[in-house]
Amino acid sequence: MTGAAGFIGSNLVECLLKLDQRVCGLDNLASGHQHNLQIVRTGVSSKQWQNFRWMEGDIRDLPSCRQACQGVQHVLHQAALGSVPRSLENPIATHEANVSGFLNMLVAARDASVESFIYAASSSTYGDHPDLPKQEDRIGRPLSPYAVTKLVNELYAEVFARNYGFSSIGLRYFNVFGPRQDPEGAYSAVIPKWFAALLRGQPVYINGDGETSRDFCFVENVVQANLLAALNKDPGARNQVYNIAFGQSTTLNQLFALIVENLRELAQQLKEPTPVYRDFRAGDVRHSLADISKAKTLLGYLPEYSVRDGLRKAARWYAGI
Ligand SMILES: NC(=O)c1ccc[n+]([C@@H]2O[C@H](COP(=O)([O-])OP(=O)(O)OC[C@H]3O[C@@H](n4cnc5c(N)ncnc54)[C@H](O)[C@@H]3O)[C@@H](O)[C@H]2O)c1
Repeated sequence: MTGAAGFIGSNLVECLLKLDQRVCGLDNLASGHQHNLQIVRTGVSSKQWQNFRWMEGDIRDLPSCRQACQGVQHVLHQAALGSVPRSLENPIATHEANVSGFLNMLVAARDASVESFIYAASSSTYGDHPDLPKQEDRIGRPLSPYAVTKLVNELYAEVFARNYGFSSIGLRYFNVFGPRQDPEGAYSAVIPKWFAALLRGQPVYINGDGETSRDFCFVENVVQANLLAALNKDPGARNQVYNIAFGQSTTLNQLFALIVENLRELAQQLKEPTPVYRDFRAGDVRHSLADISKAKTLLGYLPEYSVRDGLRKAARWYAGI
């Protein structure tokens, strides 16, 4: 697995170790943290922890990718530099990790003859396509360097299937959230940012009027999708991309209310918070909603956690309970 010290990666590591799987985790700690893995360590037995092999290394380095793929059955490729604003500020860094790194992993996995290659794609690939809900085969033009890199991943995956018979599955995640998603830094996502701000008594900013909506997806649903994809042997389900979301839209105003409601139950001293509305953020699409029927039909994906259920779990984590 790559990106093992990150948010989604460390949740995958935890689940796999609890299932008594052996896991090799590659990460260069660009945006991930050792402490994510230390938390995983405390949640599994010492025998299960012995099944984890940590590899600090970079996917931009082909030998490291080859080493990580050695003797491996399944690759779950999560490593990338996330965030649209980061990619606008430094498109070269995003390209190197997300495109060159991805290509290195594809080559390494192909040469190691792994059974499956599952990779983190992104809903950003829908770009400026107006249709809602989003269906896999109707995409628009990418709106950011980050979106370009995720689209290129899909193109490379397709070309590797066509030319080398190397099959893979891309999972287009939609706004994932949950425990261990980093609230710090300029590029953090809305949910961890708001949890942290509310718990510190700091203002919460809403970009725009709050009626912007997203299909927020709890990380456990993403973990389930990765496992189902890795174990899928149906040739009709391989070499495909799938929307991975909950399949329901939530506005930022609704999200704010849900987060406050959850924190109120845990931290009674929480003051009556009012969000601060500010300008829309450049490049943000107004609405995003996934059609998840393809993943349901071909992978057997059945998201277990609604946004409300997921926020309850996330709230406990951010509140340190
Ligand atoms: N979180 C979301 O909402 C979301 C949505 C769509 C797609 N994704 C994709 O899911 C994947 C995981 O994202 P996340 O939210 O867990 O982010 P994250 O930043 O927590 O995890 C990414 C991990 O990749 C590692 N990494 C980055 N560059 C690397 C390199 N060159 N070599 C080795 N490791 C490197 C980072 O250190 C980090 O641990 C990414 O590919 C991201 O693009 C995430």
